[in-house]
Amino acid sequence: KIFENSFSASKAVAKEIATLIKAKQKTNDHCILGLATGSTPKGLYAELVRMHKEDGLSFKNVISFNLDEYYPMEPDSIHSYVRFMKELLFDQIDILPSNCHIPDGTLTKKQISKYCAEYEQKIESLGGIDLQILGIGGNGHIGFNEAGSLQNSKTRLVALDHITRVAASKDFSGLSNTPRTAITIGVKQIMEAKRVILMAWGEGKSNIIAASAEGEVTNKVPASFLQEHDNVVFVIDKAAAKKL
Ligand code: GLP
Repeated sequence: KIFENSFSASKAVAKEIATLIKAKQKTNDHCILGLATGSTPKGLYAELVRMHKEDGLSFKNVISFNLDEYYPMEPDSIHSYVRFMKELLFDQIDILPSNCHIPDGTLTKKQISKYCAEYEQKIESLGGIDLQILGIGGNGHIGFNEAGSLQNSKTRLVALDHITRVAASKDFSGLSNTPRTAITIGVKQIMEAKRVILMAWGEGKSNIIAASAEGEVTNKVPASFLQEHDNVVFVIDKAAAKKL
């Protein structure tokens, strides 16, 4: 779906999320959302906050799982995705803090694999992700599943690509301060979500959007795996659609 701009696109995605949350409320069910960070979903989160404050949309039945977190990372660091999610969404809506899950950047290396298995099990025990929100890295990564990630890759510690670190380095004031690793949900968990919405804005994403949506399905471009998902939509603005 191609929208005039990221504002109207974000509003449409927020509307779909609100409809899902309300449908789940009617049947007394939880709504399991997979959430993303980065600049792309900021407008979406602003619209969800507006819907909560002005339209009374409640998030009490929402359970969220974030895609990823830098490793190592303290939750109260200005760079952490915990802080990002709290500031932009969780602290401004009525979601229960105990229902918000973000990979833990404070684990010891030894703890990580057990933790990742438990993160997946928690999602599975709740019946899987109802709706997964994704951004896309300029190199085609989803979550932090970089090029080379397999379609059945699991939640794990990954090394970040140089290109990803360069993109992140502006937030970390320099490459030497930018983390080299992160914990990410695997491609497998993303593919198992009941619905996936990938969002992208701006001409800078146009090449990778074309490669992901219309190119070969390859682990060189992890977002291309989504072509094999049976309920996925790319919600993009006109600039990101330029190369389609
Ligand atoms: C980071 C995140 C991804 C996100 C990507 C794109 O790498 N881990 O989940 O999709 O950035 O970032 P942006 O939305 O700022 O372009």
